Amino acid sequence: MSKYRIAIIGLGGMGGSHAAAVKSEENCELVAGADIDPGRAASWAERFGVNAIYDDYEKMLEKQRPDIVIIPTQAPMHHAPTIAAAKRGIHVFCEKPTALNLIEADGMVETCDKHDVKFAINHIKRASPYNRHALSLIENGEIGDVVLLQATDKGGRKAGNSLMEMGTHLYDWVRLFGGDVEWTHAHLVQTDGRESTVDDIKHTQEVHPRDRDAGIVLGERGHASFRFKNGIHADVQYLGQSQTNDNGYGIDIIGTEGRIAVRESVGTTMFIHRGQHKTPGDAWEPVRLPAEDIDEAGNYRNQGSIRLLLQRLMLRDLIEAIEEDRDPFASGRDGRDCLEMIHATWESHRQKARVYMPLTPREHPLERWRREEGNR
Ligand SMILES: NC(=O)c1ccc[n+]([C@@H]2O[C@H](COP(=O)([O-])OP(=O)(O)OC[C@H]3O[C@@H](n4cnc5c(N)ncnc54)[C@H](O)[C@@H]3O)[C@@H](O)[C@H]2O)c1
Repeated sequence: MSKYRIAIIGLGGMGGSHAAAVKSEENCELVAGADIDPGRAASWAERFGVNAIYDDYEKMLEKQRPDIVIIPTQAPMHHAPTIAAAKRGIHVFCEKPTALNLIEADGMVETCDKHDVKFAINHIKRASPYNRHALSLIENGEIGDVVLLQATDKGGRKAGNSLMEMGTHLYDWVRLFGGDVEWTHAHLVQTDGRESTVDDIKHTQEVHPRDRDAGIVLGERGHASFRFKNGIHADVQYLGQSQTNDNGYGIDIIGTEGRIAVRESVGTTMFIHRGQHKTPGDAWEPVRLPAEDIDEAGNYRNQGSIRLLLQRLMLRDLIEAIEEDRDPFASGRDGRDCLEMIHATWESHRQKARVYMPLTPREHPLERWRREEGNR
């Protein structure tokens, strides 16, 4: 069997998760890694038994010419390696959030198209078999016509940081059930209740030094509404709670005859309720799918092994997309459209109005706001 030669740029936390997935797939070979931090590179190399280690990803791409490159660096370092790989005809599997702004994200999509390479974003929830099950229940009419998606953030971060960190996953998940967005209406507030202003725009790591670098952000709490082109409406809440709650994170899919609740950022808990209304006293019926929750030995998986399973499914889909010459199920285009929803959330707040897709101009809306106010 010919193996896909895979290299990784960025050998930190997610660099390890992706490497474990590559090593678990029979038709894949982990050939090289690049990181600017020599200590991280050395421990990753030892852990995964990889000899070809580089401090310069361009040199690695040039020398190794892998079939696929995985890019689990932080957001400011997604655009340049994607372009460098695509220009060399290497397929790209990039981490979320897709990029820092829509100019970068558009460039990534266009360059991958131009060089005929597949471009996937690691919106890992897409791989969950629960999504397919929820979609098939909807298709079978189990909850009637879907009219509303109510989504809730995981908490543990202020809204601005969360939009770029978990919001991109949540928007991707909402898009799975809602499709393409027509318009957004959103507003952001500070924890004292006042509307967020241009003076509240901060760098992610100024908001919280241990959060990842995702550029500049705005808002401590946020409320965003979306109308999808098919008429479905979504309400998404970022309440900026100090504690995270993965069991609270997720979506209620509300239909005319019932509703489905899906929860958790990596694994999934799922519930169904039949009926036109649901009061707090009405119980949910739990739904469990063996495919994701039970391992080969019949035991419930822990979060770690579910992440490995989903990471492998993401990689397998990219390989199938290459072989079948189709888009990956979490494509770069989808990833770009999630970033557009994030930026539309900020732009609608700034304009105090609905903003329609495609969002124009493509410049970061918060950079533009600052510039128009004299770079405060
Ligand atoms: N999809 C998911 O479920 C999921 C989960 C967690 C994190 N993430 C995303 O993964 C990305 C990485 O997160 P992380 O926690 O692994 O970050 P990290 O900081 O642990 O790792 C990033 C690595 O990239 C390296 N790096 C930086 N610049 C580089 C360059 N020019 N060339 C090569 N290497 C370079 C850093 O030295 C570091 O080792 C983030 O965008 C994050 O949002 C996704």
